[in-house]
Amino acid sequence: MQTIHSIAELRAALKQERAQGKRIGFVPTMGNLHEGHLQLIDQAKKCSDIVVSSIFVNPLQFGAGEDLDSYPRTLAADQQKLSSRGCNYLFAPTDAEVYPHGREAQTQVEVPVISEMYCGITRPGHFRGVATVVCKLFGMVQPDVAIFGEKDFQQLMVIRRMTEDLSLPVEIQGAPIARNEKGLALSSRNGYLTPEELEVAPTLQQTLQTAKAALLSGSKAFADIEEQAQATLEAAGFKRDYYQICRRADLQPATDTDHEIVILAAAYIGAARLIDNIQIDL
Ligand code: PAJ
Repeated sequence: MQTIHSIAELRAALKQERAQGKRIGFVPTMGNLHEGHLQLIDQAKKCSDIVVSSIFVNPLQFGAGEDLDSYPRTLAADQQKLSSRGCNYLFAPTDAEVYPHGREAQTQVEVPVISEMYCGITRPGHFRGVATVVCKLFGMVQPDVAIFGEKDFQQLMVIRRMTEDLSLPVEIQGAPIARNEKGLALSSRNGYLTPEELEVAPTLQQTLQTAKAALLSGSKAFADIEEQAQATLEAAGFKRDYYQICRRADLQPATDTDHEIVILAAAYIGAARLIDNIQIDL
């Protein structure tokens, strides 16, 4: 695997690959890679000839007081992991390479409505930062296909919508959520949890399973199901963020005629804010 830090070098390398007719698959990340990220690499390998991953802790998507400075940076270990899964190129640019005019002067990509709900309320401007950097990374890599985890379900929807609205010639694929043996969705931010909090954290996924069972048994008491889940989380030591039974197509609150559902959840525990979701076909 070749590690590249500059856009010019990346473009030169990928131009050669493309000239040989290779299909380019892309997996953008912020590093500190775990099995969930690596499964995206596996999926990219299945649907492309050359896999490019990026590691860039994007300052534009972090709010004031968030964990930009403390976000784990583990490049050497990440390189090994990517290489062992057959990634061909790692693009790891500096802030100055990505934002040469500074962050404030950067043209930004705003995906309305879908960016303003759920995580967008708790983290104002977050999805603008995500859409902007992903749009730029698409311009740098020019992939045929890009893979994003369903763990960040709202992010995946924002990127699908941006790609459609801006007519970007990239196929967007979602990938299933990778979990640990207790059901906790893998996340770089799980590293912020104490051993005790790690024991409690799978409760988030358990509430989603319970809510799914209630919906599958025919309950339409969405507000009650949401409140029950939030109460269970609070009893386990979480602080509330949001918990919403949504229509999968546009993430609006579900109504009792909807069939394709996703429950989106976020809650605080210790120094971490965890997110998770579950899809349900009624
Ligand atoms: P990051 O949190 O590093 O995640 C990179 C990719 O890995 C995202 O597509 C995310 O959904 C996926 N991922 C993370 N944990 C996962 C899990 N447990 N199972 C499956 N997929 C998982 O998401 C970002 O970085 C950034 O916002 C980024 C898109 C790179 C833009 O900066």
